[in-house]
Amino acid sequence: MNIIEAKNLTKHFDGVLAIDRLSFSVANGTITGIIGPNGSGKTTLTNILSGMIPKDNGMIIIDGVALERLKSYDARRYGIARTFQNVRVFEQMSVLDNLLVVVTERNVWGALFERHGEYHRARVLEVLERIGLRDKQTALARTLSYGQRKLLEIGRALLTDARVYLFDEPFAGLFPEMAKLIVTIIHELKADGKTVILIEHNMELIRELCDTVIVMDSGRLLAEGAPKNVLKKREVLEAYLGE
Ligand SMILES: Nc1ncnc2c1ncn2[C@@H]1O[C@H](COP(=O)(O)OP(=O)(O)O)[C@@H](O)[C@H]1O
Ligand SMILES: [Mg+2]
Repeated sequence: MNIIEAKNLTKHFDGVLAIDRLSFSVANGTITGIIGPNGSGKTTLTNILSGMIPKDNGMIIIDGVALERLKSYDARRYGIARTFQNVRVFEQMSVLDNLLVVVTERNVWGALFERHGEYHRARVLEVLERIGLRDKQTALARTLSYGQRKLLEIGRALLTDARVYLFDEPFAGLFPEMAKLIVTIIHELKADGKTVILIEHNMELIRELCDTVIVMDSGRLLAEGAPKNVLKKREVLEAYLGE
């Protein structure tokens, strides 16, 4: 069963064709890697799949339902969570509050003044443990290191209890011990039956983690299949070497 399908997806910005008749599918409960040179349309694709920007043409099918329009609200409702290539957290809030606002689904002000139930706290503490930030609960997000902020953003995604997680270069710029936490989280998501779409440049990680890899080049699908088959293709190697 495919949880996400895209058919002939197209998106342009002024003169740039960022996504060019792209078709692919993502099977439920799998980890799919998206690779491709800078500017090949990977982030644009995540922006479309998370409802942040509209597609120009083509079809998005989620759980067998063809969607004419996918807004952020719809994406959340369908259980699609994401992280950003450029981290987005509430810089002026504590680590704990950054996480609590997700589980209580209040606006920022409401959540700050709310007394949180034990259930919410327990869920947040569990995630704090998984992202390695237990000792940092009271720190303001803006005082965290780059890697810690990335982990906090992943923690926020985990708390949405989504079915599909879109991670846009989560490993970029991280020290090995933080990368390890994310590898573990991705393995756990899969063990939990969740679907992960991972944009990543490190081929070792793609090989280790992904069931399927999608290769993009200039907005088009260059190759799709198991990493061990796809990563040895000449056109894939050339797309990277030609960068
Ligand atoms: N908001 C935007 N406005 C104009 N051009 C954009 C915008 N977002 C992306 N692009 C262009 O679309 C192409 C694909 O970009 P992007 O999806 O960020 O690629 P990737 O994530 O693979 O590096 C690039 O040429 C980029 O400059
Ligand atoms: Mg990108």
